[in-house]
Amino acid sequence: MISPDIASAVDHLKRGFTVVFPTETVYGLGADAMNPKGVERVFALKGRPRDRPLIVHIEGLSRLEEWAEEIPEGARRLAERFWPGPLTLVLSCRREIPRLVTGGRDTVAVRVPDHPVATALLRAFGGGLAAPSANRFGRLSPTASWHVREFFGDEAGPILEGGPCSTGVESTIVGFSGDRPTLLRPGTVSARMIEEFLGLRILRAGAEEEGAPLPGSGESHYAPCTPLELLPAEALRSRLLSLTSRGDRVGVLALSEWGDLCGQREVTLLPMSRKAPEYARELYAALHALDRGGLGRILVEAPPDGEAWGAVNDRLKRASHHPGGR
Ligand code: TXA
Ligand code: MG
Repeated sequence: MISPDIASAVDHLKRGFTVVFPTETVYGLGADAMNPKGVERVFALKGRPRDRPLIVHIEGLSRLEEWAEEIPEGARRLAERFWPGPLTLVLSCRREIPRLVTGGRDTVAVRVPDHPVATALLRAFGGGLAAPSANRFGRLSPTASWHVREFFGDEAGPILEGGPCSTGVESTIVGFSGDRPTLLRPGTVSARMIEEFLGLRILRAGAEEEGAPLPGSGESHYAPCTPLELLPAEALRSRLLSLTSRGDRVGVLALSEWGDLCGQREVTLLPMSRKAPEYARELYAALHALDRGGLGRILVEAPPDGEAWGAVNDRLKRASHHPGGR
């Protein structure tokens, strides 16, 4: 039985319109990947440059050959191990895929999301959904349906409700050049997990990665509107004192005990989990909440270094990057 919500979303997609659907990572703004009119709407709604390719979401590994020209052995093994799940594979692209989806490239990014609503939608639709995160270009990714409504209202088509996203940061992206994997964007499937599973080193993409800008690189990305600073605990304390002493209202994402600050009128303190997976799950929701609080600044206590925190630290670094200052 197909629910009325899913049936209506499929109808939208088939007519070349967009729908918003939940995945385990973030909510996606989806269109029929084979329909340039729908894909064009995705770029226009997001305000996204056309050279930033989209991820094609498919129902299962058995559909991968419809999109990828060649599937290296390592890629197939990763797909078998981590799909459905927060891993995107960039593979050589079949000729018939619209180049609007791939940003003009001969490679296509594909993943199988792990969320019952996404699965039901993909099954009922029967094709691939080109879907970036359902936010305006460069802004915070949405991990709850109300985040999407704040960005788009009803403009993006039906919003399928799926509750809060369980992973909370975008998928890991891995490219293949021959059988050599390259990490293009860190996520909760870590480089080490991939290396241990494949038994070989994965390259970490450098800034000069071939072809296109790296996912999310080159400008402030995944960022709240409120200026954000990422600081170690001690530096954060002195920064906070100097900001509040001049009357600024400040939001803090805290890891340490900051009991003495809780009572301060100017400070909105959000205690974060010290476990990386939970921190990742909460991160965007916490930033969305602080961003609507009319604060002058968000200070984030820097999480530990290390592999488990790779995705969180990557997103925080991008969020705190404000070229030209704000
Ligand atoms: O978890 C996710 O991946 C979410 C959900 C909705 O699935 N999607 C997502 O999409 O984060 P988006 O568009 O915000 O980020 C996709 C990234 C882009 O930064 C893009 O540069 C990269 O994937 N990408 C897509 N196709 C590529 C390709 N052919 N080569 C290199 N990078 C590619
Ligand atoms: Mg995005």
